[in-house]
Amino acid sequence: MKDVYILGIESSCDETSCSIVKNGVEEMYTVISTQIDIHKEFGGVVPEIASRQHVKNITMVIEETLNMAKMTMAEIDAIAVVNGPGLIGSLLVGVEAAKTLSFIYNKPLVPVHHIGGHIYANNLVKRLTFPLLALVVSGGHTELVFMDKDNSYKVIGSTLDDAVGECYDKVARIVNVPYPGGPTIDKMAYLGKHSYKLPMPLNDNSYNFSFSGLKSAVINLVHNEKQKGNDIIIEDLATSFQETVVEIITKKTKRAIEDYKVKNFIMAGGVAANRGLRESLEKLCIEENISCSFPEMKYCTDNAAMVASLGYYNFIEGRISDLSLNSKSSIELS
Ligand code: KG4
Ligand code: ZN
Repeated sequence: MKDVYILGIESSCDETSCSIVKNGVEEMYTVISTQIDIHKEFGGVVPEIASRQHVKNITMVIEETLNMAKMTMAEIDAIAVVNGPGLIGSLLVGVEAAKTLSFIYNKPLVPVHHIGGHIYANNLVKRLTFPLLALVVSGGHTELVFMDKDNSYKVIGSTLDDAVGECYDKVARIVNVPYPGGPTIDKMAYLGKHSYKLPMPLNDNSYNFSFSGLKSAVINLVHNEKQKGNDIIIEDLATSFQETVVEIITKKTKRAIEDYKVKNFIMAGGVAANRGLRESLEKLCIEENISCSFPEMKYCTDNAAMVASLGYYNFIEGRISDLSLNSKSSIELS
């Protein structure tokens, strides 16, 4: 069979990225232009600034990807692009760029779901095997997803309020750790001890999560200690917070693995870079005697390699769009 090359584009939040992937599994080249330093001074992503930066970057990012992969548009079979969920102004930039390329070079246009993309970051490490359970943990999502074949998603649990990455970033902000605080809190968690008592959030028999109560508990704890004139030991707070998060996520994941009798477990999204979660879930998979895989560290956060990977399966299944394709800030995965 002829090789299929997909050019993927991602611009749903604060990364402008382009990638070319062969047959859904082999990365030719990926460029990621991140805006983290620009948004850092505001303590979070400013949507208007993000979309303007995407406009500035997108052409260069696509050109550089083709140049570095030593390929031309003539060799590309289809253009895949994330059209949601995400920041609407940011998504529009990628979608318009993809539509323009599709029109000029007469290539099929393939819409890709951002969270589906995160799941397929694992396909670049090891071909997905089914049935599988995916834990999606990012700045905007916390979901347990059951899959029995490519491109078939059953969301069996999700957060009722804050996403876990959002909770990490807010806890970081309370203790003056700069955005995005998740990676720093993760590092600090290995330097302290679990000395602060925090509530185990939504410790029930569902597959759902809740993180806003845990966030409020951290805010209250910091305020109370300040009022008493006590210094907060940030490393201890990071350890206490991370161990609580890891424990509840591991507990719910274990139940889902057993109830759905999956043979494979994968993790996806920015928080999949978290060392505590990786260690705990890897141990769980050994105990459950199932295989597990995590995305490469650089492909935990937003990137277009994952988009081009899922784009391949969408393309061969005929899930293509015409030029009326629009961006949507929220789209169901299932
Ligand atoms: O997937 P992503 O790039 O963006 C969304 O689609 O949301 O995830 C970004 C999130 C941020 O909240 C960031 O703090 C978090 O992932 N994150 C981490 C770690 N690395 C990134 N959270 C905890 N531990 C980490 N090591
Ligand atoms: Zn993402």
